[in-house]
Amino acid sequence: MTDPQEAIDATAAARATERDPRIEERTAGEVQEGIPFIGAGPGDPGLLTVTGRRLVEAADLVVHAGSLVNSDLLEAYCADAEQVSSVGRDLEELVPLMRDTYEAGRTVARLHSGDPAIYGAAVEQMDALEHEGVPTYLVPGVTSAFAASATLRTQLTLNGVANHVAFTRPQGKTLDPDDDHVGAFVGMGDVTTCLYLGTHAVGETMDRLLADGHDPETPVAVVYHASWPDEDVVEGTIETIGERLETAGYRASAMVVIGDAARKAGYERSYLYGDWANRGPDEGEADD
Ligand SMILES: C[S@@+](CC[C@H](N)C(=O)[O-])C[C@H]1O[C@@H](n2cnc3c(N)ncnc32)[C@H](O)[C@@H]1O
Repeated sequence: MTDPQEAIDATAAARATERDPRIEERTAGEVQEGIPFIGAGPGDPGLLTVTGRRLVEAADLVVHAGSLVNSDLLEAYCADAEQVSSVGRDLEELVPLMRDTYEAGRTVARLHSGDPAIYGAAVEQMDALEHEGVPTYLVPGVTSAFAASATLRTQLTLNGVANHVAFTRPQGKTLDPDDDHVGAFVGMGDVTTCLYLGTHAVGETMDRLLADGHDPETPVAVVYHASWPDEDVVEGTIETIGERLETAGYRASAMVVIGDAARKAGYERSYLYGDWANRGPDEGEADD
């Protein structure tokens, strides 16, 4: 087998000059030839898409993202399949496992948590497999920020409150301080900032925001295990959330939502169900 790093480099180099023809030939949601990289959704088995479920049910081998994928989902949809957690396995192990199984004529599904496009590291696996001659494709899922907004019964964009959403992560072992833009997003004011991969570092992140002069009263909601049976919500502000979360004891698997939309306060009625309701067609795009 080609070294996965060489395969990734070769695929990236080819991409600079040739466009993948499947981009024009295939639609998202279409079942295709090869190994599907499926978004498992945030946890509740009901939040897996219909296509994702069909593919997982048909799989002989399901490679999944370990504890981030609810075992109830695996039990409900693929109890009879061979199940392998990707946690603690490198590309050098995962790629041959998926390739050999696929080439032996068995059906393979790769399950990522939430949506694979968000902090999923799917593309490097796909590139390594494609380089080995195994086609792959993506099946979207519900990202955890969307489960968290449903739990909070809010919108991440809210008229008069938040016009933008940032999916981001704080500095840590795998992100340099220079690449941490949490303060920049919060400072924009009308952005709902959704922090992935930051549960263990909420206190430090909030301390940095306070040190940089951000409003201590800015609402922050932390949704632990959104859509799981043990889902929990800890609410506070930039000033208070660190201590509250420490008391609650969550160190992983939570979505941190920063901004006024977390509390749904102060929004304005949208144009859509106001003056725009009778405006006639084709006058621009509005909320739905
Ligand atoms: C490696 S990232 C994967 C994100 C995933 N691809 C998605 O779209 O949600 C893992 C992070 O996602 C968030 N996360 C995943 N599932 C979650 C859930 N059910 N509730 C809250 N946060 C979750 C946490 O911030 C966790 O640290």
